[in-house]
Formats: sequence, C-alpha cells, structure tokens
Amino acid sequence: MNQANEKNSPLIVMKNINKYYPVGKNQLHVLKNLDLTIERGEFLMIMGKSGSGKTTLMNIFGFLDTISDGEYLFDEQDVSKLTENQKSDLRNKYLGFIFQQFFLIQSLNVRQNVELPMVYEGKRKDRERQDVAKKYLDMVGLDTKEKSKTTELSGGQQQRVAIARALVNEPLLIMADEPTGALDSETSADIMAILTGLNKEGKTIVMVTHDNDMTKYASRVIYMKDGLFLDEEAYKHA
Ligand SMILES: Nc1ncnc2c1ncn2[C@@H]1O[C@H](COP(=O)(O)OP(=O)(O)OP(=O)(O)O)[C@@H](O)[C@H]1O
Ligand SMILES: [Mg+2]
Repeated sequence: MNQANEKNSPLIVMKNINKYYPVGKNQLHVLKNLDLTIERGEFLMIMGKSGSGKTTLMNIFGFLDTISDGEYLFDEQDVSKLTENQKSDLRNKYLGFIFQQFFLIQSLNVRQNVELPMVYEGKRKDRERQDVAKKYLDMVGLDTKEKSKTTELSGGQQQRVAIARALVNEPLLIMADEPTGALDSETSADIMAILTGLNKEGKTIVMVTHDNDMTKYASRVIYMKDGLFLDEEAYKHA
C-alpha cells in the first residue's frame, strides 16, 4: 500500500470554504461555507440535483479549480500554497479521475489510453508501462481488448478502460463524477462492483451521483442543494 495511505490523518479537510464564479457584474455563490473531512478508506457519495455544486466541489478536490476562501488541506498540505506544477504532480500521483463521458482518446488503442498517466509521469520504460496497463485491463476484465479501438467498445467497456486508466498510478483517491450516468442499470452494477471492490482493498473513493439507487454502495452520503450540505431528511423534503 502507498505510504501516504497508511497515515491516520484525514485525506481531505475543508474548512469553511466558499466558491464564487463571476457572472457579468455579479458573483454567483456556488459553494457556501462548507466544512468537510474525508477519511482514508471512505466511499463517499455526493448526491444532489443538477446545479447544486457537485462538480465544482469535485474540481476543487482535484486541484482543477480553486476555492474563493476558506481552507483546503490535502494529505495535510495547504493546497492554496502549492504551485501549478506541484498541483499537477500531486494530481498525477495521487488522484484518479473517472467521468460520465469516459474521455478516452480515440486515436489511441485501449492499452495506450491506459498507459497515458504513466506517460505523463515519465518514469517507466515502454515495456513496463505496457505490462502495468495489461495488469489493470485484466483487473477490469478487458485483457482481450488491449489492442482494440476505443470506438469499438460498448459504453460499459469504455468506462472500464477509464477505470483502468485511473488506477495505473495507484492513486490514493479515486474521484468519479457520475461514472454510471451514461450506462444502463446492469452495466452500472458491473461498474459499481469494480468500484466497491477497489474500496474494499483500501482505496478512498468520492463519487457524484444523481441516482438515489447508487447510495447503497456508499459508506457515507452527503446531500447537496444550492451549494449547501443538507442532512438526509432535509434533502428529501427540499
Ligand atoms: N465556470 C463557471 N462559471 C460560472 N458558473 C459556473 C461555472 N461552473 C459552474 N457554474 C455554476 O455553478 C453552479 C454549480 O455547477 P456544478 O457544475 O458544480 O453543478 P452540478 O451539481 O455538478 O450539476 P450537474 O448535476 O448538472 O452536473 C451552477 O449554477 C453552474 O451554472
Ligand atoms: Mg456535475
């Protein structure tokens, strides 16, 4: 296991964070005085209707966007003090992203897509990269599709390629924004089986969903509305 995964400190601590987007002359208040701690090993789900701020929060977790004020500590480091280069390094080393639309590169075959985070990392030789990619393709049940074009795969297979790609650098945190949003319920269950398996092995997972049926897979659920966290009862009646 990754050394940083063995610490007792929380992986993520957010204190009183706000996010504003400038819209014309106004400021849109998208995240409102949020406090959140994510412990290592959690499978946290963020539920909320469209526009509630889920993706904005995920982008902040992943250093793809910044908070307007408040404090964000990732693995005890103050993210506001990191340079863009440091953030890119941390992102590539510690974070794995999975999206609703997969974002595979069509000009590359399946295995080459999975190799990409290792290419960015720039540490491994070609042969080693290929072996690692094959190992993760095997894990998601796609060992026979190594040389296929991504356009020849079903949606569920494409999402499995994206999961393999998210895993090759052995991230501390897997972030999945609506990973089953484009999939039918049976294929979604296959994807959730992979994610829950990874969580049982110790990976911390944060997943965004609209779908109440997904919450059964979570170890904790956060409910969002209009940039606020609500408790479950308040959310149901909101
Ligand atoms: N770059 C931006 N500039 C201005 N406003 C933005 C920007 N990104 C998001 N917003 C606004 O912030 C709010 C939250 O958006 P966000 O994408 O986080 O919602 P979401 O909960 O992920 O919704 P969905 O379920 O539709 O993906 C929305 O009102 C959106 O219009
Ligand atoms: Mg979103």
